[in-house]
Amino acid sequence: MPESPYLVLDPEQVRANYRALADAVSAPRSRDTRIRYAVKAAPVDELLTLLDTEGAEFDVASIGEIDQCLRLGIDAGALCYGNPIKKSAHIARAFALGVRRYAFDTEDDLARIAEHAPGTEVECRFLSAAPESRTPFGTKFGCAPREATRLLVRARDLGLTVAGPYFHVGSQQLDPTAWRIGIEQAGQIVSTLADKGIRVPAVNVGGGLPISYAEDAPSLGEIAAAMTDAAARFLPENTALVVEPGRALVGNAGTIHAEVVGVRFAPDGRRWVYLDIGRYNGMAETENEYIAYRFVTDRDGDPVGEAVVAGPTCDGDDVLYQRTRVLLPTTLRAGDRIQILHTGAYTASYSSVSFNGFPPLTVHVSGAERE
Ligand SMILES: Cc1ncc(COP(=O)(O)O)c(C=O)c1O
Repeated sequence: MPESPYLVLDPEQVRANYRALADAVSAPRSRDTRIRYAVKAAPVDELLTLLDTEGAEFDVASIGEIDQCLRLGIDAGALCYGNPIKKSAHIARAFALGVRRYAFDTEDDLARIAEHAPGTEVECRFLSAAPESRTPFGTKFGCAPREATRLLVRARDLGLTVAGPYFHVGSQQLDPTAWRIGIEQAGQIVSTLADKGIRVPAVNVGGGLPISYAEDAPSLGEIAAAMTDAAARFLPENTALVVEPGRALVGNAGTIHAEVVGVRFAPDGRRWVYLDIGRYNGMAETENEYIAYRFVTDRDGDPVGEAVVAGPTCDGDDVLYQRTRVLLPTTLRAGDRIQILHTGAYTASYSSVSFNGFPPLTVHVSGAERE
């Protein structure tokens, strides 16, 4: 056994998730659908190779992710540089590496794509009116829908190819109607562009597909049905759907193995359980207590009591849960093993620096081993 904490990923679960999603979104056979994996969720070589073999495309956020995909032999044509925030030098570098699809949300970014990646395909990200998700993007990305129409016309005039409108309903989105709202808005963009003589080949309905943590999420089937029903209502039949999940492909394929470092009763009487994993070595998504993970201990079955759960660093913010009601066995002691379920997404990839000297989370892929 390696020393904890570490993340174990099950590639066969990722394959099953991919196939289930592909089946669900392509159920109405009349429409083309493509699945594009958001590499940032778990940029793990074995998973990228597996998804490439399954036929996925890849959403990449940086030159680092592009380099990783190309090093693995993934065709540059399968990549979309989907981060609207990028330096001109990085657009030029991506173009030199063969990337031919880019997302943007401002006129400035569009102009720089036209200059440094001429003739490529572009998706315009708009801010949809979707309800807030569990880990929302706020207004960091996306132009107004009307602006997206204007910018896609401008893209055509700059010699770029219009790939289509793009929205992301926020990560861990629990409300399936979010996609109906976004697809209806995208449909308006598609029809206005058609009136201007621009055929839109695809709508990118983003990621955000949820998984069940402590709180149950709607099933993949329900989300896919919301997407395909809305597409049938609001999009022409020859407009493809691009689905861009991260979490839904890898989240339930991972388990973090950790250890209790200590248990303490604070002066106010609250019980604190300190783990060897915290906000800075894998549990970043507990920020604002957005994601409530489920814990499994060897003492499950013993009486339980409320606990504040905290990480190991000497940092006051390294607390996972103090408002969320977490029940853990009252018998839990230093040295006990603890598993954190459904931690395949946004854990190891967030944990990249040795804050306080605690090393980044190591990753083990079942059937293979890697650091
Ligand atoms: C551009 C883009 N696409 C897709 C995703 C994947 O989102 P999720 O993991 O919620 O499916 C993200 C996540 O941040 C993203 O930034």
